[in-house]
Amino acid sequence: MKKLFGTLKTGESAYLYTISGGGLTAVISDLGATVVKLFVPDANGNIADVVLGFDDPNDYIASGTYFGAAVGRNSNRVGGARFAMSGKEYALDANDNSINNLHSGFYPYKNRIWTVQKHTESSIRLSLSSPSGDQGFPGNAEIHITYSLENPGTLRICYDAICDQDTVFNFTNHSYFNLAGHNHPEKAMSQILSIPGRFFTVADAMSIPTGENRAVVGTPMDFRIPKPIGRDIDADYEPLKLQGGYDHNFEVFTDPGAILTDPESGRSMAVSTDRPGVQFYSGNFLEGELGKDGVSYCHRGGICLETQFYPDSVNHPEWPQPFVKADQPFHSETKYIFR
Ligand code: BGC
Repeated sequence: MKKLFGTLKTGESAYLYTISGGGLTAVISDLGATVVKLFVPDANGNIADVVLGFDDPNDYIASGTYFGAAVGRNSNRVGGARFAMSGKEYALDANDNSINNLHSGFYPYKNRIWTVQKHTESSIRLSLSSPSGDQGFPGNAEIHITYSLENPGTLRICYDAICDQDTVFNFTNHSYFNLAGHNHPEKAMSQILSIPGRFFTVADAMSIPTGENRAVVGTPMDFRIPKPIGRDIDADYEPLKLQGGYDHNFEVFTDPGAILTDPESGRSMAVSTDRPGVQFYSGNFLEGELGKDGVSYCHRGGICLETQFYPDSVNHPEWPQPFVKADQPFHSETKYIFR
């Protein structure tokens, strides 16, 4: 099913596409290749829309939340908004604290209309042409994102891309999840999170990694034994104080790399990815945004588990690197598996 989402300030029309499969239904927009709705049943068949979002497409453009958005070419932050690749320096937009780069710049992919290449009952493939120099990144890139709903209870996201010059490909999906339903923001912090990752990347007050990979053992960052997100979030621990809660990258070395469970409904979500890291962001910057169905999303009313390379990895050669050679096909997958 395809229907009009709304008219953008640019005069462009944004559309909504419904896909169903594996017991799930999702609504995807060509604006930003955004996951607008995701309906998931619990064990008793009660269905909830488990992602935060807006009713008006213009709100997706105006908001810095990145609800449901596809992020590229580079997710997360780049310190000093610059990096070097193959001996050349590249400058990006300083759109974060006027110094750093966040989610690639002032004209993010979330604000662009993607081309729908294929829409079936259970999948949709969206494409974007990103010209050389777009957001400061070299090379003409063709980017494709495919969302498919599959058994068992899986939202699978495939990223395929190619570029005619060496470039950076570090895509993610920025959905904010609340397994109690987006309309129960007050329940997000009581959900149980498990992250097997043994370390997280320590960051400074502007969330730029210092380079330290710190063991989670003995800290409030330890989710190897599942615990409610809210249990330690306000602990007197510098990394939590600096980021105002959880907003940190954890190592992914297991499959799944994280599991979120809502104790009340019993819904759970496993995150399976080929990426080396997951940014766990506990919605610390939410401040009552008026979302779908008039719901106000309070502080920490939903959480992101963004699969990606480590933040600022372009400036940390000791970490896995997001650089891709010219004309080399890029493929990556992340699955959100619901039960
Ligand atoms: C970052 C947050 C940021 C949010 C919205 C997340 O990926 O980790 O610091 O506020 O995106 O831009």
